[in-house]
Amino acid sequence: TLTQAEKAAVVTIWAKVATQADAIGAESLERLFSSYPQTKTYFPHFDLSQGSSQLRGHGSKVMNAIGDAVKHVDDIRGALAKLSELHAYILRVDPVNFKLLSHCILCSVAARYPSDFTPEVHAAWDKFLSSVSSVLTEKYR
Ligand code: HEM
Repeated sequence: TLTQAEKAAVVTIWAKVATQADAIGAESLERLFSSYPQTKTYFPHFDLSQGSSQLRGHGSKVMNAIGDAVKHVDDIRGALAKLSELHAYILRVDPVNFKLLSHCILCSVAARYPSDFTPEVHAAWDKFLSSVSSVLTEKYR
C-alpha cells in the first residue's frame, strides 16, 4: 500500500499526465511493442503501426483505467475488478507483460515531464503502477 506522501505524489503527477493521457497511452504502447516485440502477439487483430487509430484508441482506454485507479487509490481492486477478470480469464496475458508495460508507461511520463519526475515521484509512480499490475494479475491461477 502507498503512504500518504506517495498517494499525494501520484495525484500530482497524474494531474499533468491526464492532460495528455491519450498521447502518453499511445506512446507507452509504441514503446512496449518496439522494445518487447513478443508483446505484439496479444494483438494480432490490431494495426500496430505507429500512430494507428487502434493503437491510439487502446492507449486511451489503458490510460482511462489508470485514471480510475488514481481516483480510487484506496480501492484499486474494486475499481479495476472487471478488468482484472478480463485480463486473467479471457485475455490470459502472461503477468510478466504487466511489468513491461508499467516500465513503458513510466518512461513515457518521465520523458514528457522530466522536471516533475523527481526521485520521489518516480518511486511513487512505480509503486502505484505495480499495485495496478498486482490487481490485474491476481485472479490468475
Ligand atoms: C484490453 C487496461 C495491461 C493486453 C484492455 C482494456 C483496458 C486495459 C482498459 C479494454 C477493456 C475493454 O475494452 O473493456 C490495461 C491496463 C494494463 C493492461 C490498465 C496495465 C497497466 C495489458 C498487458 C497486455 C494487455 C500487459 C499484453 C501485453 C490487452 C488486450 C486487450 C486489452 C489484448 C484487448 C484489446 C482489444 O481487443 O480491444 N486493457 N491493460 N493489457 N488488454 Fe490490457
